[in-house]
Amino acid sequence: MTTRRPIIAGNWKMYKTSGEAKSYALAFLERVGGVTEADIVLCAPFTALNVLKEELEESVVHLGAQNMSWAVEGAYTGEVSAAMLQDVACTYVILGHSERRELMHETDEMIAKKVKRALEAGLRPILCVGENLKQREAGEAQVIVQNQLKKDLAGLTEDALKKVVIAYEPIWAIGTGKTASSQDAGEMCTAIRFALAAAGPEAADVIPILYGGSVKAENIADLMARPDIDGALVGGASLDPVGFAALIENALKH
Ligand code: PGA
Repeated sequence: MTTRRPIIAGNWKMYKTSGEAKSYALAFLERVGGVTEADIVLCAPFTALNVLKEELEESVVHLGAQNMSWAVEGAYTGEVSAAMLQDVACTYVILGHSERRELMHETDEMIAKKVKRALEAGLRPILCVGENLKQREAGEAQVIVQNQLKKDLAGLTEDALKKVVIAYEPIWAIGTGKTASSQDAGEMCTAIRFALAAAGPEAADVIPILYGGSVKAENIADLMARPDIDGALVGGASLDPVGFAALIENALKH
């Protein structure tokens, strides 16, 4: 079995101006600048990426966006392309976050086109999947997630699949303070790896699977101890550089 390198990614959502991002970067680098055992990623709003590129250049911190267009370029008012993200040093992009699925009505078909485009351009998609509370209570969580994976990753070659990162984010755990128990989260991540194996057995072994949903410095170690959880996608707890650095330290302790 492959040893997968952990990824701890912060999702700032719609928080922080470029000035705030600059002060964050300075404080954060002081604390995580020497971390070599994991990939640290900051997924910031588009408008903060340029300043982060300047502040974090040649550091261990990677940059990511929270969405992108499936088109290469053209008449798509308000959209941002993969090339534009690469221009501001992004190497990752979150795709299919539940807030975009629910609030912006993104469908699996749209997400699949974005995943394909990101991979063609050489960006690593962090594809978010996850069930809502009603679906979990109805015992449908695994089927929902398997369907999302099937549709969002449709048509990818095994080599392309190997560049994908999956984030399992149960919707009921996002921003609610309710984390899935490490056992439930671990079981779903194992089920995800199993489902990925149907598409590409070698890829399934190397694809990092992150858990997201109220991850904090206090619960990260338990989650990371699960064999199929390779990291975390962290919203609220990534907004403070000191707290996020402490969370990363705890993630790497075990
Ligand atoms: P949260 O958000 O950590 O604030 O729950 C996670 C996410 O939405 O990626």
